[in-house]
Amino acid sequence: MKILLVDKSADVRELTAMMLSSQFVTDIVQAEDGAEAVRILESQGQFDIVISGYKMSTKNGHDIFKSLRQISSRVPFMLVSSQAYSHLSEFNHDLYFEALQKPFEEELLIGKVQLLVNHAETKDWKSGYIPVAIEILEKMNSVSVPLFIQLSENHFVKLSHAKNLFTAVDAQKMRSRGISSLFVELGDYSIFIGQFRKNVFSQVAWDQADPKDCLEILSRDWDLVMKASRKFGFTEKVINLAQENISRGLAVMSQTVNFKSAFKDFSDSKQSRLSAHCYMLAILCTAIAKELGWVASATLQKLTYAALLHDVDLDEELFTSKQTLINSTDFRQFTDDPGMMRLVWHPKKASELIAAWSSCPSDVEELIIQHHEKIDGTGFPMGIDYKTIAPLSAIFILAEDIIYHSVDNFGISPLEFLKSRFDYYQHGEFIKIYAAVERVLSAK
Ligand SMILES: [Fe+2]
Ligand SMILES: [Fe+2]
Repeated sequence: MKILLVDKSADVRELTAMMLSSQFVTDIVQAEDGAEAVRILESQGQFDIVISGYKMSTKNGHDIFKSLRQISSRVPFMLVSSQAYSHLSEFNHDLYFEALQKPFEEELLIGKVQLLVNHAETKDWKSGYIPVAIEILEKMNSVSVPLFIQLSENHFVKLSHAKNLFTAVDAQKMRSRGISSLFVELGDYSIFIGQFRKNVFSQVAWDQADPKDCLEILSRDWDLVMKASRKFGFTEKVINLAQENISRGLAVMSQTVNFKSAFKDFSDSKQSRLSAHCYMLAILCTAIAKELGWVASATLQKLTYAALLHDVDLDEELFTSKQTLINSTDFRQFTDDPGMMRLVWHPKKASELIAAWSSCPSDVEELIIQHHEKIDGTGFPMGIDYKTIAPLSAIFILAEDIIYHSVDNFGISPLEFLKSRFDYYQHGEFIKIYAAVERVLSAK
């Protein structure tokens, strides 16, 4: 990364250069005053970033910024000054501008540079962070746990302090710069989810809002909770967070949800594919059960728990990259491939993970373990067929088949897809379930 570093104090320049090169692969050109900096800018070609003080003997930080903008509208400029915030208005909310107040901590300097130069090459560091999508941060008025930016696989640096609130405006600015997520330290994660709920849940009038909007928010929240479960396991804290989400989800789904628009919104939305997949399944499964007249609240609860938890052993990456494989491959030929075995056993692993969850309704484990079985016995992990598949699992399997083809992957209309499977589903319990799904999907 080629950096122009401007400050009248040689000590400040040295210290800043040291901090930068301890983290990034750098090529740093230094200047001690404004006129010299402008000359360098005009003669030395493209820089990746200009980091500059304000007061200098000739010209000031703002003059350097103006010269830079004549050359390029996108080369980032960072003002580092003890009065940084009092000069902000001079920089016109430029998208590629950041201010840093002196004296500053190394982490803040590095974080802001990474933010501005997202192609910066870095040296490796430590791990232990959970990604949070920028869209989540945008929905929150403020975040008061420290946020981090990722420099490389195991290297994260602090971007905001607990005492400096990170706001929705900051998040919008980052999204405009093409940054898709920031990170929260493991230890702060449940506090973060609490803040998300306080901010976002309180903005929704749950009784009056459009159910599909509520479900969209719950699906984003579910993604946060599942990330916590992957890092911490199903601890009491994580179970409580999950429980609150499920209760709200059940309450919303007890109303009528407009499928067509929910399908469309979930297919189009940029949120986690995995949690959108789970929520769509929950919506469709509960609607099918109601259509069948299986309206006992215990039944709807079981289906919702199973829909939200069935792929808990997959992460986002495994889910998106291996979904076709999961849905189309005969796994019995891969019994000695450990990667494939992880996929084959994810239904069993998920059912074991939630077995310790005492408030989870009975039979959910059975539903989860059967969710990749198929009517003709070609599914996994057990290879059972329609004669052995439990009736609730049959709802689940048919719903997943539709969601997979219509929402997750191929955009086929759900009803059209269902009709193409008519012959395939004419066995046992599946016959009446097929008819119920057809009625649900045909409803206006
Ligand atoms: Fe699955
Ligand atoms: Fe699934």
